[in-house]
Amino acid sequence: MQKESGKVFKDEDDATIKPEKPQLAKKKWRKSLRKEQALNEHLTWEERLAYSVTPQWKLSYNEQLQLKQKNQERILLQLSDQLLDGQHKALTSASSPKSTKLSFPLLPILPSPVTEGYRNKSTFSVNRGVDGNPKTVGFYVGTGKAGNIVCVNGDHLLNMPERHKLVARCYQDFLRRSPLEPCLLFHDGGHWREVTVRTNTAGHTMAIVYFHPQRLTPEEVKFHKSSLVEYFTQGPGAVCQLDSLYFQESSMTRCSHEESPYELLHGQPHIYEEMLGFKFRISADAFFQVNHGAGELLYHTVREMGLPNGGREGSTLLDVCCGTGAIGIIMSPRLRQVIGIEVIQQAVEDARHNAALNQIHHCEFLLGKAEVVLPGLMEVLTSTGSPVGPLTAVVNPARAGLHYRVVRALRNHPSIHRLVYISCKPEGEAMRNFRELCCSPDPQRKLTGDAFRPTLAVPVDMFPHTPHCELLLVFESPGIFGKTVYKLARHHNLEQASRIVACTIIEKEMSAFNRVKKGYHVLFIFMRRHLHRLLVLIHCNNCFFPAQQRDRISSLGHITEYENDRDGGKKCQPQQPATRR
Ligand SMILES: C[S@@+](CC[C@H](N)C(=O)[O-])C[C@H]1O[C@@H](n2cnc3c(N)ncnc32)[C@H](O)[C@@H]1O
Repeated sequence: MQKESGKVFKDEDDATIKPEKPQLAKKKWRKSLRKEQALNEHLTWEERLAYSVTPQWKLSYNEQLQLKQKNQERILLQLSDQLLDGQHKALTSASSPKSTKLSFPLLPILPSPVTEGYRNKSTFSVNRGVDGNPKTVGFYVGTGKAGNIVCVNGDHLLNMPERHKLVARCYQDFLRRSPLEPCLLFHDGGHWREVTVRTNTAGHTMAIVYFHPQRLTPEEVKFHKSSLVEYFTQGPGAVCQLDSLYFQESSMTRCSHEESPYELLHGQPHIYEEMLGFKFRISADAFFQVNHGAGELLYHTVREMGLPNGGREGSTLLDVCCGTGAIGIIMSPRLRQVIGIEVIQQAVEDARHNAALNQIHHCEFLLGKAEVVLPGLMEVLTSTGSPVGPLTAVVNPARAGLHYRVVRALRNHPSIHRLVYISCKPEGEAMRNFRELCCSPDPQRKLTGDAFRPTLAVPVDMFPHTPHCELLLVFESPGIFGKTVYKLARHHNLEQASRIVACTIIEKEMSAFNRVKKGYHVLFIFMRRHLHRLLVLIHCNNCFFPAQQRDRISSLGHITEYENDRDGGKKCQPQQPATRR
């Protein structure tokens, strides 16, 4: 939870706002409020909230994108520095000079197709408003630390859709009619807590009301639940046309369905969404990308980056932190098998249901913490050997990043050559994961597998008007194929090395070039003669080729050009390609 002054409190997985409770007594709170007021006197409360929740709201969308691009570049340069530093220190025990250029491409940020009212999930807090009314529903301005939190309604926020604002206004009206007090501080009593609103592109709305029972009897709680249902179905709240109304009774700040069940008080149990032609059921407790249009862009990009040559029938995808299974299901037509891992039970049930809903039968979703499930799963995959085929991993953890055991299991598995890491906070804990993936093998930390290296980055703007975006980062490792060839080359068994490379290139790339047999022969002869080029080819072969480069690499001649581009023409002098189409 962030506690910076003037910042809102973000949900772990997206930019949903989470409440922070005021820590001071009412008198102190008023004093602190006056101080805050004095500091930002020129701003209205609504402006302060807008700067807090959507700090870029005054900028044009183009300016926002430029800022985000620069920010992602800065973060990736930091990563490059840290990786360089690691290598440099290992050799010289001195710090490396700061890098000014990335060693891999950062593509231009993909803009969100919709920039206003794009959120499909919002959580509204309950607390004292500017007028001191404790039954105010909105977002916090100020911080718990400074004790100057005030709740301001979010009707003017650019990222908030009308339907969410309407539910928030009605909930506030309901609270003000209710005889029960709101729960501002857990130990101070009170009952009504925040409300979460979820919507979909089909126009359906789900509301989830959180409630602290304190010392109420079950009958009393039942009475207040009924009044809530009545308000939203027959009373003034009926304008919200809720398709689902859930109620979570809990004495903890945030808990899962298992810890404290979501009780359906009215309507449909789920909300549905369609992404890239696939249908998804979403439960109250399950994560779903918060911006539909940008979510589709993200999934499209992950599919292209994870399976750059359109995928292969024999390969398996590990979808780590899979939520409702969206990534795995969308990529599944290009794969032999998908295995997803997710800790939230409702999300796993959704994922299994979603596979069936889309008539996909080769996806399996495992319930549990990735750090517990994955190491065992990797062992099983290793022991079953070849049947599983090559592995690609997509990881999309919450802000806390991946547990060290997850990184270790992924890195140490010889079949994983490509890993796509999706992060909405790459400068945070994800950076630690990047370092663990890319550092030199470290037997003490049981990081024995080949180091990965970042090869491509693509930002996707999931959160217009905020400083945040999603970053997709591709990591590749030479894997067992690369290792074998280098070993053979080192022992001067060049012919054998050439043969392996030729076969692998035929298998991996040549089918894409539509010249399998001819290509094999020509490549083989060519490679036997030019092993040093061949090693560059291995390098290329393991790289992700962005679409425009893939087009260029449509003949051996073009691959030669590409080699020359990569090393500035120093190692490989330009020469006639061995064959042309
Ligand atoms: C950012 S969401 C991504 C979900 C999914 N990839 C998608 O696109 O919808 C992160 C997911 O990781 C799950 N998660 C968090 N910690 C986890 C853990 N230790 N093991 C497995 N899943 C976890 C969360 O419940 C959430 O569904």
